[in-house]
Amino acid sequence: MSSDDFGIGLVGAGFISREAHAPSVEYIPDARIAGIQNRTRENASSLAADCNQNGNSEPSIYGDGEIKALATDPDVDAIWVTTPNFTRLNAVKAVIEAVEDGADLQGIAVEKPIGRTVKEGNRLLELVDRVDLPHAYLENWPHEPDVGDMRSLLWEQGRDAGRPYIARSQAEHGGPHSGWFWDGRKQGGGALTDMLCHALANNEILLSDPNGSPPKAVSVTANTGTLKWDRNAYAEELEAAYDINFATDPVDDYASATIQYEDANGRPVISEASGSWCYVGSGVRRTIELLGPEYSGQVLSDETSSSVFFSDDLSNDEGWAEKQNATSGRMPVSAAEVVKGGYVAENRNAIESFRDEQNARLDLDDGCRILRLCMAAYKAAETGQEVDPRATDLTEYVPFPARK
Ligand SMILES: NC(=O)c1ccc[n+]([C@@H]2O[C@H](COP(=O)([O-])OP(=O)(O)OC[C@H]3O[C@@H](n4cnc5c(N)ncnc54)[C@H](OP(=O)(O)O)[C@@H]3O)[C@@H](O)[C@H]2O)c1
Repeated sequence: MSSDDFGIGLVGAGFISREAHAPSVEYIPDARIAGIQNRTRENASSLAADCNQNGNSEPSIYGDGEIKALATDPDVDAIWVTTPNFTRLNAVKAVIEAVEDGADLQGIAVEKPIGRTVKEGNRLLELVDRVDLPHAYLENWPHEPDVGDMRSLLWEQGRDAGRPYIARSQAEHGGPHSGWFWDGRKQGGGALTDMLCHALANNEILLSDPNGSPPKAVSVTANTGTLKWDRNAYAEELEAAYDINFATDPVDDYASATIQYEDANGRPVISEASGSWCYVGSGVRRTIELLGPEYSGQVLSDETSSSVFFSDDLSNDEGWAEKQNATSGRMPVSAAEVVKGGYVAENRNAIESFRDEQNARLDLDDGCRILRLCMAAYKAAETGQEVDPRATDLTEYVPFPARK
């Protein structure tokens, strides 16, 4: 560790900081976690201990209300904002005020989604632009090596046949791990904002010519539903775990959206995105596809041959097949998950860009555009009508699960 190392200041010590950002920085030479600020100081300390043990860094620790102190720490070169969606704007505001008061930062990176509404996203961007600070939107999917390789191979080898015309991204898991995700007002919506903001961003990148400009979104249709978690037994589970009343205040636990784009020649290009919090199985199930006139490609999270999975609740502690002696499935374990998951590439790109005084490959303008697509999708699902994002002012729109 040297004093020339790029020092990251983490705002938030929750799942994404602990499981993705801190371990991924260990793969990046000349970078380290230099400071951690968190509402509960003890959780910042325990993450700092992990960084010390695994990454040989010694982050300074800051508690509740100390974002400005983190931003002015001389070892901190840039801030990564990773706290929940409803805290996003205030966290960024504190960082920007610190810069206005003299903090010497090279950049700010913000986790997906960049806010709960277009209004919040615009406000966040205004704040960052006010001090001309380079920025990054932390969306890992397009940074995944498998996704990047598929995109560049298909665009390069398939170009003579014609550009790709359908991108599909689908992801589901069994539901988030913290109460605030399930609260529409705090999260800004449900599965649509949480899962489809990944899928929509990923599709848009897959459909964008690496040598040209991205296609323009011209129409959005969508569906949302609450399929599982408002059922009595499951709502009670959520109440017991997180003290939220999902039966009376449900949000969508399933969403799908289709975005029609126009390419540079005015031809239609389609993004299909779907996601849910209703999947019973091991981990996250995900399928990504890109289709063109003479080619197709796919990235699957689970490429094993056919299999089934029953939860422990259903199996009643007995196997369902003869001689089966396990009642729950095995989690697939992937070596270097932070590499495969795109977090190392995402963070490396942000650090290198900030060192060059540039925005990252995905920046907060991209984050705002994806948030606008999410809002258009909620509006389309609510009204049952197609939404033209070019002609619809979504600034004041609040998704229906976030209104009460
Ligand atoms: N790119 C991805 O794959 C991915 C995956 C997961 C999450 N994310 C994004 O990352 C963000 C954080 O998600 P997470 O899973 O890390 O959440 P989490 O595990 O619930 O952690 C939340 C963190 O924020 C702090 N916090 C909670 N409420 C707060 C409040 N009112 N004021 C200030 N701090 C507060 C918590 O502090 P305490 O220690 O005091 O509880 C904790 O450190 C979300 O925006 C999510 O969309 C991205």
